[in-house]
Amino acid sequence: MKLQVLVGISALVVSTTLAGFAIAQSSGSVQSLRSGDLPDTLRAEQVHKQMEGRMKRNYRQQPPLIPHSSSQYQMDKRTNQCLGCHDWTVAGERGAPTLSMTHYLDREGNQLDTVAGTRWFCNQCHVPQANAPELVGNDFQPSNALR
Ligand code: HEC
Ligand code: HEC
Repeated sequence: MKLQVLVGISALVVSTTLAGFAIAQSSGSVQSLRSGDLPDTLRAEQVHKQMEGRMKRNYRQQPPLIPHSSSQYQMDKRTNQCLGCHDWTVAGERGAPTLSMTHYLDREGNQLDTVAGTRWFCNQCHVPQANAPELVGNDFQPSNALR
């Protein structure tokens, strides 16, 4: 009795293994997710380092790119460490460019003494700079280049 069951099970195992083998054979070679054959050593993509030095603006209204590292400066609902150098009250002694006056206008056009809420999260508009190929290609030209 026991022997019969065992024979039955092994017959099942053998036939399913064979069936699996046949499927693997018919669907071609195994495709790896990392593209390239398993023994290949693939090179990591180039890391584009942040660049120092102020870059030319691509169009007149462009928020200037950030010419220094910025990830270490805390920016949340209460704290904005960028203002520690760029606010008009401190920029002179810090040797940093002062926020332009547009940053002190609220949405009704009132002049404020403190940075406007609409300009609080600097990295909404200002981004670090690196000379990297664009992720999505484009053929943008500023309007003065079209004249
Ligand atoms: C420790 C002082 C300091 C802090 C903090 C600081 N900056 Fe600056 N920032 C500077 C200085 C100095 C320059 C001018 C650098 C130069 O001319 O190469 C500058 C330049 C810039 C410019 C370029 C302005 C232009 O007209 O080209 C932008 C934009 C800027 N910073 C944004 C930021 C943002 C956003 C933060 C916060 C994430 C920040 N900065 C924090 C000192 C600071
Ligand atoms: C809504 C978009 C926006 C936000 C948010 C914003 N900026 Fe700007 N910023 C601009 C634009 C656009 C310019 C260039 C035109 C101008 O001066 O208004 C600029 C100019 C600057 C300049 C150059 C000023 C000059 O006269 O050369 C500095 C420095 C700067 N921003 C820093 C900051 C910092 C620091 C913050 C956060 C407290 C911030 N910005 C938030 C859009 C923004």
